[in-house]
Amino acid sequence: MCETDQKQKNTPRVATGDRAILPEGAKTIPVYIMGKQYEVPETLTIMKAMEFAGFKFLRGAGCRGGICGACPTVYRMAGDYKLHFGLACQTVVEADMYLAQIPFFPANRANYSIEDMSGQPELIHALYPELFRCVACNQCTKACPMDVDVLGYISALKQGNIEKAARISFDCIQCGLCASRCMGEIPQYHAAQLARRIYGRYILPNAEHLKARVEAIEGGRYDTMLGDLEGMSKEELEKRYVEREREPDFAEVGSWQPKDTQHL
Ligand code: FES
Repeated sequence: MCETDQKQKNTPRVATGDRAILPEGAKTIPVYIMGKQYEVPETLTIMKAMEFAGFKFLRGAGCRGGICGACPTVYRMAGDYKLHFGLACQTVVEADMYLAQIPFFPANRANYSIEDMSGQPELIHALYPELFRCVACNQCTKACPMDVDVLGYISALKQGNIEKAARISFDCIQCGLCASRCMGEIPQYHAAQLARRIYGRYILPNAEHLKARVEAIEGGRYDTMLGDLEGMSKEELEKRYVEREREPDFAEVGSWQPKDTQHL
């Protein structure tokens, strides 16, 4: 264990998590944002710590919930050569972090219409020939804040296995940190997005129950009920919502039906 890791291990944590309110006894710690030192409460996420330090996010912040991929951040700990990666809205600050945000990384995105494609992997190879520049260094996987096996899905794409690539990359939030580290200059996340689109459009079987439900909606089956709801006041709608029949939280799939089945 390096000295920094040891120091972090021995430092008592007052609290972790995405909290803006300081618990009793919480202290401030030094972090470095774009090279300048700031004292911030140790309980904050990087995003909130930066706001605490006076930064205002015009870019690099979106959902604040770890989903949109707008806040990728690179950091290093004092005394440690290693680069670390995280989402600013999810990662809690630690003492002596050197932080820089990468809200956008320029990566090649191919032009295509999904309607003009098919389930053939050669199309992905033609649109993203740089996939074959991969040298399997695995820096992409190490940089992923979502723990996606990026090298795994790149290998699957090279082998023409779209389903495997789509499944492995399912948690990708398109933050671009993988591309920022790639010595082959591959836009991994764009290629994976195309794989998921092709998988959903051409490989997964169509959901027949969804098709039937859309046809019922388009055929006007729910028009009267929706019209009634539209005519209700806010209070009536709230009452209806509170009194609705709820599915039990732990009902076995397919085992529950509401008493009133006329809208199923
Ligand atoms: S702001 Fe959306 S992932 Fe962080």
